[in-house]
Amino acid sequence: GEAGEQNLVERAPVITIMGHVDHGKTSLLDYIRSAKVAAGEAGGITQHVGAYMVEKNGRNITFIDTPGHEAFTEMRSRGAKVTDIVIVVVAADDGVKPQTKEAVEHAKAAGVPIIIAVNKMDKESANPDLVKAQLAELGITPIDWGGEHEFVPVSAKTGMGIEDLLETILLQADLLELQADPSREVKATVIESSLEKGRGPVATVVIEDGTMRVGDIVVAGIAFGKVKALLNDRGLAVKEAKPGEPVVVLGLSEVPGAGETLISVKTDKIAREYAKKKAEYLRQKELSKSTKVSLD
Ligand code: GTP
Ligand code: NA
Ligand code: MG
Repeated sequence: GEAGEQNLVERAPVITIMGHVDHGKTSLLDYIRSAKVAAGEAGGITQHVGAYMVEKNGRNITFIDTPGHEAFTEMRSRGAKVTDIVIVVVAADDGVKPQTKEAVEHAKAAGVPIIIAVNKMDKESANPDLVKAQLAELGITPIDWGGEHEFVPVSAKTGMGIEDLLETILLQADLLELQADPSREVKATVIESSLEKGRGPVATVVIEDGTMRVGDIVVAGIAFGKVKALLNDRGLAVKEAKPGEPVVVLGLSEVPGAGETLISVKTDKIAREYAKKKAEYLRQKELSKSTKVSLD
């Protein structure tokens, strides 16, 4: 469009799932993914992609397969605001544990809304009221107790409550009024990256604004390049990725760090300059660190 003109559209909410070890984060993600991917495509999920998108009531929800709190903290320290909503999973038979508290602290510090998924409700020893009481002590009070937080009872084993959880996410997303402009240059956040044999540097990003296309010249921290290929969350080649969507990017010069912002620029020269400046900045930071250490 013309300069200054905006083309805002609704974008998919981006969700991170956190919680104590073994409370069912992976099981929950796996259940949602397998239930929501079209039957014919389910067999096609062979490779790990760090984020994926599911459909509910004709709308999309993007889930980040959280590699752990450390990565989340790392992203936050880089100022990445990739997550719109945090889901804290608490096993109903185990209650609030140290990492549950950590997850709540992370979400509070990031200023994102929290939804509690009370998992393992299929178990006889499930005690959702204890979970509510324990979380209320942390300032996370259920709506039915006069608080502000949604507690959704679920089972990643039977699938109970999963649709409710997805609906709760969409209602929360409505309140956030998430919007983006697909006609702009792309801005995305790197959520994971690696060096792959035969592929080179590979980065999974979530698009925050704009549209990314094959052939775009992009820069992410010290990494830059012309986008050689884009793969969706099923590992299939796509031509473009829109706001809220996760996508795997091939063609970068280096492996960018998680939480790094990726943007598109007009020329290869500009991309190189940005990457060089970032590398120089990191070198200076390292230098000042080692100077400090030697002075102590
Ligand atoms: P980490 O990634 O190691 O922190 O664990 P996690 O939170 O991803 O938990 P995971 O999904 O690996 O589940 C831990 C164990 O709990 C596994 O044996 C699951 O099969 C089991 N589990 C997860 N969800 C449920 C549930 O809803 N009901 C029952 N009965 N078992 C569950
Ligand atoms: Na586990
Ligand atoms: Mg797990």
